Amino acid sequence: MSLIYDVAVIGAGPAGYVAAIRCAQLGLKTVCVDEWLNHKGEPSLGGTCLNVGCIPSKALLESSHLYQQANVNFGQHGISLSSLEMNIETMQTRKNQVVHDLTQGIEALFKANNVDLIHGRAKITTENTIKIVHRKTRKKIEKLTVNNIIIATGSSPVRMQQAMIKDDFILDSAGALELDDVPQRLGVIGAGAIGLELGSVWSRLGSQVVLLEAMQDFLPMVDSKLANLAKRSLKKQSLDIRLNSRLVSASVKNKKVHVVYEDQSGEKNEVFDKLVIAVGRKPNSDRVFGEELGIERDERRFVLVDDRCQTSVPNIYAIGDVVRGPMLAHKASAEGIMVAEHIAGQHAEVNYDVIPSVIYTQPEIAWVGKTEAECKAAGIGFKVGSFPLIASGRARAMAETEGLVKIIADAVTDRVIGVHIFSAQASELIAQAVLMMEMQATAEDIALTMFAHPTLSEAMHEAALSVHGRAVHTKN
Ligand code: FAD
Ligand code: NAI
Repeated sequence: MSLIYDVAVIGAGPAGYVAAIRCAQLGLKTVCVDEWLNHKGEPSLGGTCLNVGCIPSKALLESSHLYQQANVNFGQHGISLSSLEMNIETMQTRKNQVVHDLTQGIEALFKANNVDLIHGRAKITTENTIKIVHRKTRKKIEKLTVNNIIIATGSSPVRMQQAMIKDDFILDSAGALELDDVPQRLGVIGAGAIGLELGSVWSRLGSQVVLLEAMQDFLPMVDSKLANLAKRSLKKQSLDIRLNSRLVSASVKNKKVHVVYEDQSGEKNEVFDKLVIAVGRKPNSDRVFGEELGIERDERRFVLVDDRCQTSVPNIYAIGDVVRGPMLAHKASAEGIMVAEHIAGQHAEVNYDVIPSVIYTQPEIAWVGKTEAECKAAGIGFKVGSFPLIASGRARAMAETEGLVKIIADAVTDRVIGVHIFSAQASELIAQAVLMMEMQATAEDIALTMFAHPTLSEAMHEAALSVHGRAVHTKN
């Protein structure tokens, strides 16, 4: 006997759980299958994002930021502490509770929206059938007959042959979120989003953090001026970022990780208490269907999809980290909504030109749209306005004066085509930029808008004024 559904969603990360809820809201009989088990071996929804990604990393970033504020910045406000201690166990317990509450919340949302849930590993057997087995025992749990399938199986960390994950010493990002003590020396391979965020957490708590990055440029996808400001700022915060540095080998001896790496001047050695590997993620597309189904993948094993996330098999869709585009939770969820609405016969699309990115360092780095370099490469004429946070009254009152807001507008239409922010709360400010671009606002529109005083948002206003040489609180 098989269960019959309009839609089966495979994976309950931000792509899959959002797609499943939207399908059910639209009246489609929907089931979501997910295989995630937490460190206690219990099923836990929310995928990478909730269990070992966005949420736990931000919980630790918040705790470590508060500790750093108390340790370094309270003095200037006249606050003195006779003693300051960080209890790592309490910090981790709080983080685990946040994760637990949110993952449980998804189960409640499924119930409220009538989404059926099956814990187990799904494999698509034909374009209309799915077999579900127990993740560990491989025993068959269920067979589904379905009209539509949404693959939302996410991604996993890229492994390095030279540095295989070894319990307690060589860790991936999930391991780096679980440390129960502050390592004296922490090595991180890769100065991307994960390396910088998790490196920041442990550095703020007292680790000497060294990041070995293979590329010559720091954060090449970020506006180069902001990337330079961020690099300088992170170095000041004691993050030792070594560019052009490629890992040769890593081995564990006497409870230390011995690392050999290569830079322009040749081979170098380092010894760390822990080593984190953060060199990117790869799509989970190997186990969910067989080649005979004809679902095409690219050379990096991302499932090939069109703008509507439809695969080469018309009733099978794929969304989130398992397909092209940035590996971001909000992009994954937006694709989930689009596909659900498409299956329900509605018109829906994702605007891939307006996906915000944030790296949650302190200050935060956030951007949307084109950089100056991208405009130049595409031959787009543009005007730039910028405003330094040092000139913002609110930033001064907050003692958060580091950074810059930059707005890029089309030289002909004046439309905002890129916004780049390095500042406190940039992750919140960038939402204004996303709205501006979705509404096709011009720099003039923003300049004519009133912003509350004193706020960090005024930096956005001043940057827009500066596009036309009219900034009031800084030189144009
Ligand atoms: P996932 O979240 O990976 O979910 C896929 C789900 O499918 C999993 O539960 C998996 O168990 C399940 N699955 C896989 N195969 C099967 C199968 N055969 N049968 C059943 N179930 C299956 N993004 C942001 O936007 N902001 C951030 O701040 C951020 N921080 C991050 C921090 C870290 C440390 C990491 C690692 C990632 C972070 N990301 C962040 C990225 C974000 O987590 C991913 O982009 C997002 O989780 C992708 O969602 P997804 O639903 O496509 O995949
Ligand atoms: P990443 O692609 O952001 O960074 C990986 C870095 O490792 C790159 O700079 C790369 O040049 C470097 N690298 C690769 N091979 C190397 C080698 N052999 N030696 C040294 N350096 C090497 O990937 P990361 O940090 O693993 O994150 C994975 C994904 O998760 C990101 O693409 C991002 O989309 C998502 N993420 C998003 C966050 C956010 O939105 N705030 C936070 C964390 C992760």
